Amino acid sequence: MNQTIKDLFSFIQAAKTPFHAVAEAKKLLLEAGFAALNEADEWNLLPGHAYFTDRNGSALIAFRLPENEPDGFQIVASHSDSPSFKIKENAELASDVYVRLNVEPYGGMICSSWFDRPLSVAGRVLVKTETGVETRLISFDKDLLMIPNVAIHMNRSVNSGYAYNMAVDMMPLFGDGNAKGAFKKLVAEEAGCAADDILGNDLFLYNRMPGTEWGEANEFISAPRLDDLECAFSSLSALISADNPRSVAVAAILDNEEVGSGTKQGADSDFLPSVLHRVAAALGKEADFTRMTANSFMVSADNAHAVHPNHPEYADPTHRPAMNGGIVIKFNANQKYTTDGVSNALFEILCKRACVPYQFFANRSDLPGGSTLGNISNTHVSMNTVDIGLPQLAMHSAYETAGAKDPDFLIAALKEVFLASVKAKGNGSYTLL
Ligand code: CO
Repeated sequence: MNQTIKDLFSFIQAAKTPFHAVAEAKKLLLEAGFAALNEADEWNLLPGHAYFTDRNGSALIAFRLPENEPDGFQIVASHSDSPSFKIKENAELASDVYVRLNVEPYGGMICSSWFDRPLSVAGRVLVKTETGVETRLISFDKDLLMIPNVAIHMNRSVNSGYAYNMAVDMMPLFGDGNAKGAFKKLVAEEAGCAADDILGNDLFLYNRMPGTEWGEANEFISAPRLDDLECAFSSLSALISADNPRSVAVAAILDNEEVGSGTKQGADSDFLPSVLHRVAAALGKEADFTRMTANSFMVSADNAHAVHPNHPEYADPTHRPAMNGGIVIKFNANQKYTTDGVSNALFEILCKRACVPYQFFANRSDLPGGSTLGNISNTHVSMNTVDIGLPQLAMHSAYETAGAKDPDFLIAALKEVFLASVKAKGNGSYTLL
């Protein structure tokens, strides 16, 4: 297994929830010499230094300031969240013989992939303090739950298109009849506090299965949450190793993409523009902010669909991304993807600089396809943006599959994004330094 895949798997393993993804990202950034900033404090930013800040503990923006006066921003945006099940406030569903947890879906998952596999619980707990509350991240490092299938003898239709009911089929089993009242106690124990001192929580199920490399020549990788932790991890790796003398390099890992981005820490918020404005102000460029965004470039990085081995008919006849075939540039006439002729051209140049392969994706014209965060972010801070991702199978399964060679391609290309500077000439021509 190459070092990139090892590091990717260890990031994914740690990033069980968006809160844990941000905590792990902070750890990597601190090790790389980035300094932490609190949104609520005054920022004293120095040219040539690198920083990060978070919002809600579940979204993070890291940036590196150039030594010189900046031309603009070079941004890579991805998301920290993945489809899962959120545990409700009154968590226990008890009967005579069983205690289950009462969960509701977060995002659009493939339900069948969550059955008959060891699951556990992770998230954040708000603990009462003398003066207010304190956030503590918890994750149970044990097989704690299972969502059992109904035996085929009792559900003969399960192989011919079963409609899963979120309020009936998806409740994970937590214990036998003796487990009544145990869940809150377990959470308190894990958080290191008294059960009565827990004033709030955001807890999710997570798949216990670690990442694996497989296939005839180990050409495939499978892991939970590849969408979109593969892109989030790659953006951090690239930012850590890229020192741009002319532009502000920014990696934004935003939350709640899977539920439409419309939260204070999502792409449909003021988080990214507010950080960019504060950076511009600190560099004495606030009056030039619009000039900076005109000379900026953004990559909206969210995984893409590889052509499916058993269902190639779902892929467009002339857009059939292959795993290990390189970065996927996504197009959509209705601008669910931001890519246009300009942003595609600029990104192709950067891929060529990195010597990495790239391929194109568009939906079949009779399939609606998905959406992502690039176009939403552009309504708050607008700049030339390209939508890309790595090709994968089984998007939104609890265990997704991608190519083992592609993460290195993405890191190399994103490094070129962070090292570049775009100058808009105003006549449809651009200079790419
Ligand atoms: Co995604």
